[in-house]
Amino acid sequence: MNKHAPTLPAGRRSVDEITQGRRLRRMRKADWSRRLVQENRLTVDDLIWPIFLIDGENRREDIPAMPGVHRLSVDLAVKEAERAAKLGIPALATFPNVDLALRDQTGSAILDPDNLINRATRAIKAAVPEIGVITDAALDPFTSHGHDGILREGIIVNDETVAQVGAAAVLQARAGADIVAPSDMMDGRIGAIRDALDEAGFQDVAIMSYATKFASAFYGPYREAIGTKGLLKGDKKTYYIDHANSDEAVREAEQDLAEGADMLMVKPGLPYLDIIRRLKDEFAMPTFAYQVSGEYSMIEAAAANGWIDGEKAMLESLVAFKRAGCDGILTYFAPRVAEMLKG
Ligand code: PBG
Repeated sequence: MNKHAPTLPAGRRSVDEITQGRRLRRMRKADWSRRLVQENRLTVDDLIWPIFLIDGENRREDIPAMPGVHRLSVDLAVKEAERAAKLGIPALATFPNVDLALRDQTGSAILDPDNLINRATRAIKAAVPEIGVITDAALDPFTSHGHDGILREGIIVNDETVAQVGAAAVLQARAGADIVAPSDMMDGRIGAIRDALDEAGFQDVAIMSYATKFASAFYGPYREAIGTKGLLKGDKKTYYIDHANSDEAVREAEQDLAEGADMLMVKPGLPYLDIIRRLKDEFAMPTFAYQVSGEYSMIEAAAANGWIDGEKAMLESLVAFKRAGCDGILTYFAPRVAEMLKG
């Protein structure tokens, strides 16, 4: 007998009749039962923290489009790496804001063994060897035009870029990078990097492929952070994937795995959960999402206006990645989430 059941007009089915007694709300009735049946959980082990680097010492610059995120000189980046390790964050990903005077048409400074990325890697691995360091093997922080490839006669030239990125990956590995993460979407880059690393004796350095990187409006704040916003002319549609495509993303991932990628990444994150699920189901490989700058800043902006609960939205967005099939997430929220999960 259902004591709260309303009296229904003759002939109308009761909810018990409609559901045949299958009431899905039963398991949601209390905190303990919700915890008991929860399918996905976010832990600190899921987090990769992307940090921005600048030259100098004891420098910490605000990034207006990314409230709460800063550009850090190497000495301060080391301090943050120590903090991250204490929090249990498994890995950092570094992105440099390179001095404008060092940027040129071909991004040649990526081949400087002492460039900002490599100096930061050496300093972090010396001070905090237990944290993983992931380096971005892409030219955009180093080119005067902000593209991820070498620009010749208005064209991003593929093969010359791949050769340069392969050489840069070896320098990054030599500096101590544990994972090299090429983000430029040039054809053949994974195989070329694998060959270059192996030839140089870095069999144990892994490759996280930005396998499916979409041409997206959500990278805006990042371009402010690394200073490519004012430089970039045109768009990146000749090398990033059309955001209307899904089969093409599967082909990209398949190709990168065949060339030797150890891990796959989908970028941006939240608007592409369908891609994450497809790749995980199709390849069963370690799969990551990059919750990019625009996703971060949207949550921060709405929270700052009091329109959403920022903390809850942050956690909900991160659990969504787990639900979609991610093994981990690159997120600017990493230290904040790690603190919360600890407390
Ligand atoms: C380019 C690169 C991008 C990001 C990281 N590396 C995209 C771009 O500028 O086109 C975006 C990261 C973010 O938005 O948080 N190699």
